[in-house]
Amino acid sequence: MPTVLVTGAARGLGLEFVRQYAADGWTVLAGCRNPQGAEALSAIGGDVHAYPLDVTSDESCAALAGMLAGRPIDLLVNNAGMARRGPRRTNVGLAETDTAEFAEILQINTIGPFRVTRALLPCLRAGKGRMVATVSSRMGSIALNVGGSSYAYRASKAAVNAVNKCFAIELAPEGFTCVVLHPGWVRTDMGSAEADIDADESVRGMRSVLARLTPADSGNFYNYDGAPLPW
Ligand SMILES: NC(=O)c1ccc[n+]([C@@H]2O[C@H](COP(=O)([O-])OP(=O)(O)OC[C@H]3O[C@@H](n4cnc5c(N)ncnc54)[C@H](OP(=O)(O)O)[C@@H]3O)[C@@H](O)[C@H]2O)c1
Repeated sequence: MPTVLVTGAARGLGLEFVRQYAADGWTVLAGCRNPQGAEALSAIGGDVHAYPLDVTSDESCAALAGMLAGRPIDLLVNNAGMARRGPRRTNVGLAETDTAEFAEILQINTIGPFRVTRALLPCLRAGKGRMVATVSSRMGSIALNVGGSSYAYRASKAAVNAVNKCFAIELAPEGFTCVVLHPGWVRTDMGSAEADIDADESVRGMRSVLARLTPADSGNFYNYDGAPLPW
C-alpha cells in the first residue's frame, strides 16, 4: 500500500486525513508539533506513525527528513495551517491586523509547505506516487475576494498557491503532480461549529480529487468537490 505524510495531523482536517488513509490500509506518517500529547491521533489504528514536526522550523523539517531517510513517500499532504489567534473573527481589517501575527501566518501557511516539501523531496522522489497536495483556501483566490479583510490569511494562501505553481513547474520533468485544494468551510477548531461541512465529508472529497489526478493536472487549484477554482 502507498505511504502518505500528513502535516498538522493531531486535530482537524489533518487528523481526519490520517484516519481515512489508515482505514484504507495506507502507511501514514503523521507530523505534529506534540506527538506525546496527540491522544486522538494515538487512538487511530492501522499503520500510523507519529513524528514531531513544526513546519516553521528548518531544524524540525531536517530532523524529520533524517528520521525518514531512505523511506519512500507517495503523497505529501501539506495541511498544517493557522488563521488567527483567539476566537473566530471574520472581519480582520486594516486596523485590527497585527503585523507580528501576519508574519507568523506566512511562516506557517506559506513557507511551511515550501520547507516541508523541500526537506522531504528525497523521500518523495523515492515514492511511486510523486504527489504533493497543499491545503490552501478559496480565501487565497484574488478573483473570489469580494469581502476583503483577513489580510494575513488571504495573503498567505494566495502566496502558497504561487509556491505550488512553482513546485508544479520545477518538478514536472520528474513526473510530479502538485496541487492546491480548498477543503470547504469545515467544522474544525479553525472553521468553527457554524461551518458548512464535517471534516469527514471534506477529506473524503479531497481524497477522491487526489485519487483522480494525473501529472497533466499539476499546478491546479481544486475545491474539495473537484471543481476548479480561479486564482
Ligand atoms: N476549517 C476550514 O473551514 C478551512 C477552510 C479553508 C482552509 N482550511 C485549511 O485547512 C488546513 C487545516 O485546517 P483545520 O481546519 O484542520 O485547522 P485546525 O483545526 O486549526 O488545525 C490546524 C492544524 O495545523 C497545525 N499547525 C499549526 N501550526 C503548526 C506548525 N507550526 N507546525 C505544525 N503544525 C502546525 C495544528 O497543530 P497543533 O495541534 O499543534 O496546534 C493543527 O493540527 C489549514 O491549512 C487551513 O488553513 C481550513
